Amino acid sequence: MSKKQIQIFDTTLRDGEQVPGCKLAKEPKLKLAKRLEELGVDVIEAGFPISSPGDFEAVMSIGSMISQDVVVCGLSRAVEADIKCAAEALSTAKRPRIHTGLGTSDSHVFDKLRTTKERVIERARKSVLYAKSFVEDVEFYAEDAGRTDNVYLAQVIQAVVDAGATVLNIPDTTGYCLPSEYGEKIKYLVEHVKGIDNCTISTHCHNDLGMATANSIAGVINGATQIECTMNGIGERAGNCSLEEVVMVLKHRLSDKFVTGVNTPLLYPLSREVCEEMGVVVQANKAIVGDNAFAHSSGIHQDGVIKERSTYEIIDPKEVGVNSSQIVLTARSGRAALAYRFKNIGHNLTKRELDIAYSDFLTLADQKKEVIDEDLHFILQNLKAEVA
Ligand code: KIV
Ligand code: ZN
Repeated sequence: MSKKQIQIFDTTLRDGEQVPGCKLAKEPKLKLAKRLEELGVDVIEAGFPISSPGDFEAVMSIGSMISQDVVVCGLSRAVEADIKCAAEALSTAKRPRIHTGLGTSDSHVFDKLRTTKERVIERARKSVLYAKSFVEDVEFYAEDAGRTDNVYLAQVIQAVVDAGATVLNIPDTTGYCLPSEYGEKIKYLVEHVKGIDNCTISTHCHNDLGMATANSIAGVINGATQIECTMNGIGERAGNCSLEEVVMVLKHRLSDKFVTGVNTPLLYPLSREVCEEMGVVVQANKAIVGDNAFAHSSGIHQDGVIKERSTYEIIDPKEVGVNSSQIVLTARSGRAALAYRFKNIGHNLTKRELDIAYSDFLTLADQKKEVIDEDLHFILQNLKAEVA
């Protein structure tokens, strides 16, 4: 069976960058766009051109810098001035895409837009037609599709498919769906929208209930072939689907069916660069790129990993650009870990030496959060004195 190529649409520079504190100046934004191209993403959402002159300029510069291997996308609301502005900002791009849309859930239609469902369909259709007057590649987003009734959502999507949309973005804007519901939604659209097989269906899942990655995967299993995501999962509120997670899920668990173009050893270095440029840290227990993602601290786990890495690691850290697994020494560590760490600093302890060192180690470890190499040298000095 041939594998389906899943397009990775990175929105670190748009949905990610709109997070308070993550705003980027033009130069760092360009630098990260270049890195994303090197990483092998298929689409870079470079910004929201009408939002500020700075963002307009950044989208223009990214468009002229990025090669034709990557689509450069600009966001707009379903408003003519936005769409025209996005088209102008994208005029330098070799492969431009306008991303336009509006809310489709009852909450968005009635409370935010204060309009009717019929008018939303008409506005969606006209926006796509207008965007098509500038570029061939037009992506439509049905904001809050996650909470939109499937029958109505299919009517909106049918209207934009008929108007020529090339990509159909089905955002779970509020991170509301269960994976089974989100998968069902994609399946429903596949089965009920005529001509949808000529379009790319895209996921765009937020993480309010911690299900963004699971929902994106459910979308792909049910027919989506593009995933919108960000490095480190940054984005509005609890963030977006995390690029590194979704890519590694596809690579490790679904590689018989799907493939991406992402060069995975660049994931960790890019994650750190995004942290540095945006001034935000990644939580230590973050999957794939967190400080503890490949660190082992309990004696039982350490013993297993030292004997055979795969006992407690499903990914080789090198595969995502992390040098090696880490054996962290804490009061929960065992003799195997202590011997291993002594060996790493050039000391092969005998059984008797290890027994003595382990007792000193536990005393120290109960006082400290982590025992480091410097402490091991100190333990070693005591050991020499005791053994002598
Ligand atoms: O979350 C969302 O719905 C969005 C759209 C603008 C695509 O970010
Ligand atoms: Zn979003």
